[in-house]
Amino acid sequence: MLIACWSSKGGAGTTVVATALALLLARHGEGGAVLVDLAGDVPAVLGLPEPDDPGVAGWLAAGGDVPVDALTRLEQPGAPGLAILTRGRGPLADDRGAVLAALLGADPRPVVVDCGTAPAGVALTLAAGAGRSVLVTRACFVSLRRAQAAPLRPSEVVLLAEPGHSLGARDVEECLGVPVVATVDVDPAVARAVDAGLLAARLPRALVRELRRAA
Ligand SMILES: Nc1ncnc2c1ncn2[C@@H]1O[C@H](COP(=O)(O)OP(=O)(O)OP(=O)(O)O)[C@@H](O)[C@H]1O
Ligand SMILES: [Mg+2]
Repeated sequence: MLIACWSSKGGAGTTVVATALALLLARHGEGGAVLVDLAGDVPAVLGLPEPDDPGVAGWLAAGGDVPVDALTRLEQPGAPGLAILTRGRGPLADDRGAVLAALLGADPRPVVVDCGTAPAGVALTLAAGAGRSVLVTRACFVSLRRAQAAPLRPSEVVLLAEPGHSLGARDVEECLGVPVVATVDVDPAVARAVDAGLLAARLPRALVRELRRAA
């Protein structure tokens, strides 16, 4: 199952949600899970050194002559049971996005993709072709307006809930016409774990509880 996470506006919590979801799937699935980082922030969030491997950008740039297992061989260890496909350097060449989507979709492990903000190019191809297309958003008018104008429809929403917003999960569902499958509170414990690069080691309980519904 390919699960693409994306947002309509920066800083919505997409990388944290995608990473936490992948960590949960890795813990509970027998064969582990894969996290594909198209935005480039996953190593920082997991407290890993900056990667130096070709990553997805290198695989895309290499064209069609690479061995069939080339993508799998690029996987890096991210956490117990979790393999990461890092972004790599340079542009994400567009022309093999559909092949990448097909390969990731055929993986027997759950595959989570951090597609970043307002996905375009390869990230859009993956988000549009994924079995689950998860919009991560705050319940604010500007984000929802942008989500409505996005070039793809999500299949579901993970809501980042901040105090003080007048819009709630019901409003988001009505506005976008898809279900809110999890509501993640803005929680200082999450921000601290991310800042310390300890999300894998100390996945905050509230995040686990909420995202289990979406896993
Ligand atoms: N549930 C949360 N509670 C508190 N802080 C959070 C939460 N989720 C994310 N953050 C914080 O918000 C910031 C942005 O999170 P994140 O990097 O996941 O957003 P993003 O949508 O991926 O951003 P970008 O658009 O830059 O890719 C980070 O500093 C992170 O620590
Ligand atoms: Mg991000």
